[in-house]
Amino acid sequence: MSAVSAAASAHAARFPARRLGVLVSGRGSNLQALIDAIASGHLEASIALVISNVAGAGGLDRARSAGIETAVVDHRGWPSRDDYDRALGDELRSRDVELVCLAGFMRRIGAPLIQAFPGAIVNIHPSLLPSFPGLHAQRQALAHGVKVSGVTVHLVTADLDDGPIILQRTVPVLDGDTEESLAARILVEEHQAYPEAVQRVLDGGWTVDGRRFVTL
Ligand code: GRF
Repeated sequence: MSAVSAAASAHAARFPARRLGVLVSGRGSNLQALIDAIASGHLEASIALVISNVAGAGGLDRARSAGIETAVVDHRGWPSRDDYDRALGDELRSRDVELVCLAGFMRRIGAPLIQAFPGAIVNIHPSLLPSFPGLHAQRQALAHGVKVSGVTVHLVTADLDDGPIILQRTVPVLDGDTEESLAARILVEEHQAYPEAVQRVLDGGWTVDGRRFVTL
């Protein structure tokens, strides 16, 4: 076996059971896209646990409807952000989660969780990063006057919306767009992009070279 294929195998072996943990704070349409892609055979994985920091999050209902275990880990009431991150990591590890998927999870991810899942946390963001990180990405895109926007799926690092890019898809920004119409157009692409990117990560055969997510 060559050094390159040995490295590729090593990566694939990182996710042998292909068990996902999904973190949501809201309606959970990207969670639903993952559930649907698994059900239709487009994503070879299982979702071991869905966690929300918000008890009433719609994503929890979607998970329950699909027979997926859920947990609410409220971010309030922990002595520090690190303690909260450790609690999330404990929940995920106790269900043998291998890859963590952030799907509209509205909390910053800190060092304890990143160290518990090194190179194994992914996020979806509704802009072409590095443009328009943070909140209200679609509003930022309209305000700036860009003609193209889209979706980015990336590995999570300690910096907000900044990790190596796994996949991007573009959509046009139209003259008559509102924040809502642009968000809806991007969301259609998000629901395609997220399962595809997760499959890509689980399959292995990639590495991170500097900032770049590259195929081996
Ligand atoms: C999506 O636009 C996602 O890109 C962003 O938050 C939104 C979550 O939507 N991170 P949903 O809860 O998946 O419907």
